[in-house]
Amino acid sequence: MSKPVVLIAEELSPATVEALGPDFEIRYCDGANRDELLPAIADVDAILIRSATKVDAEAIAAAKRLRVVARAGVGLDNVDVAAATKAGVMVVNAPTSNIVSAAEHAVALLLACARNIPAANAALKSGEWKRSKYTGVELIDKVVGIVGLGRIGALVAQRLAAFGMKILAYDPYVQAARAAQLGVRLVTLEELLREADFISIHLPKTPETVSLIGEEQLRLVKPSVRIVNAARGGIIDENALAIAIKEGRVAGAGIDVFASEPCTSSPLFEFDNVVVTPHLGASTHEAQEKAGIAVARSVRLALAGELVPDA
Ligand code: MLT
Repeated sequence: MSKPVVLIAEELSPATVEALGPDFEIRYCDGANRDELLPAIADVDAILIRSATKVDAEAIAAAKRLRVVARAGVGLDNVDVAAATKAGVMVVNAPTSNIVSAAEHAVALLLACARNIPAANAALKSGEWKRSKYTGVELIDKVVGIVGLGRIGALVAQRLAAFGMKILAYDPYVQAARAAQLGVRLVTLEELLREADFISIHLPKTPETVSLIGEEQLRLVKPSVRIVNAARGGIIDENALAIAIKEGRVAGAGIDVFASEPCTSSPLFEFDNVVVTPHLGASTHEAQEKAGIAVARSVRLALAGELVPDA
């Protein structure tokens, strides 16, 4: 009898294939390339992806025997879960695999913005020893506004509390008791925007959160604010942010995610006080290994017809 086929559509940790074991035929494709993805998905039982592969209604329709879509990570915004469910395809993810990595990356971006590290690094390497130009700001006693106090937002809050920051959060789905436990004061988005010295976004991308922070919201912030987005592109409007930075209404930003990815040109790239990374929040060896092992386990169970427990 032939083995079930698992399609690996993005680069995943080698631990993924090890954890799948010998019972599957493993195939590979570049899931970001539709011309490769659509024929490759046609006759496989499971597909493993990160964030670059769009498993949308068209891909689901092309997949004649697909039983599982496994997302090695948290966000499911690149999977049409409704279309998959309608077609009887199970969607699994690894919701806790990379939360520490994502939180650490957000903190790294925040510190890089506060202390101008990338710009100073680039200047020094090009032969410029400029100390006063790159004077930064301290975190202690500053107010940080966390937009979205879920798993990652809570980890960011805990880490920034250790720097002596005062923490506000906007999250309509979080109970006051949970926030109090984290030493966080829940506020409205408007209060957060007006009071914060730093803002860090930790929301999933949904129709409700796209452009949550746009031109109107950026008119409310302090001109000294530094904004970090290591969640999903498009939650903060990149063009509105670029204009606010140009006009001196925002002091800096740390951006890991973009409305359209891969992103190799953006109005944000022209500013020294904007630190950018190419969607690296989950890109650590540890997170990739945990995500790969978690989804491999879910795929094994799902293809064996067993119950897939929540991770
Ligand atoms: C996630 O949603 O978990 C991350 O965006 C994962 C990734 O980078 O693949």
